Amino acid sequence: MTGYGELAEVYEWLISDAKLTPAEFAASFGDVLGLLPPGTDVLDCSCGTGQLAVGLACLGARVVATDASEAMVRRTAELSEEFGTSVRTVRADWEELPGHFDDATFDVVFCVGNSLHHAAGARGRVAALESMARLLRRGGRLVLTSRTWELVRARGSRLDITDRLVRRNGRDAVVVYRWEIAPLWEQEHHIEIAVAQVDATGPVLVRSELLSCWPYRHDELEAELHQVGLRTDTSTFNPEAENYTVVASKV
Ligand SMILES: C[S@@+](CC[C@H](N)C(=O)[O-])C[C@H]1O[C@@H](n2cnc3c(N)ncnc32)[C@H](O)[C@@H]1O
Repeated sequence: MTGYGELAEVYEWLISDAKLTPAEFAASFGDVLGLLPPGTDVLDCSCGTGQLAVGLACLGARVVATDASEAMVRRTAELSEEFGTSVRTVRADWEELPGHFDDATFDVVFCVGNSLHHAAGARGRVAALESMARLLRRGGRLVLTSRTWELVRARGSRLDITDRLVRRNGRDAVVVYRWEIAPLWEQEHHIEIAVAQVDATGPVLVRSELLSCWPYRHDELEAELHQVGLRTDTSTFNPEAENYTVVASKV
């Protein structure tokens, strides 16, 4: 199951205030990457609505943005046009990437924003990471962000509802996450996400989707990165923090 067809239309309600614009999204990686030289070849392989891809293109990178969701790829192309950048967009699942690009095409590959857990289990995750590694030049870097699943699983199945309205494009919404935590790590888990837009005159417009995900421990991820020929440069993993970033180089 790929998903993000329905959510693509309301995805800005799921992006944090601090990363809403392309400039802000790209700047959020400044500390891990430093300044990328103009002309750096970048792939964002789960581009979502394109803020990172467009932000990096605005900074002078040559950016390709891919995603499994046609609706997400369309939104990225629209954002690129709006900002006058020339981000190339391709609809592709991670495992399909080597069919679209030659090996060693990119200096940096991004897989960020809680995307990798959608790969189906350890086999799917290693296949996805293998595709990303193949496309990197020697010395090139994979930048990956992840939820801390150790924390998420410890909390068990639950409902998370935003404690304030989220305002985007002049509309307010309540955002709901329903977590279905399976008994075992390796089993398929689910997250149901609902964006309920409320209107002062009464109507509520709800868009929701049930997404599959397969959690992994930080240790497993590190081992899998090494398995596909990447060496971890830095990791911000902290078992008590919600998210972490790993930067790994192609050896
Ligand atoms: C939570 S969104 C993150 C989007 C964006 N990177 C961000 O940070 O806002 C996860 C993205 O991963 C994409 N995705 C899920 N499974 C995928 C797969 N197998 N191959 C490529 N992209 C996938 C989804 O379509 C979605 O756009």
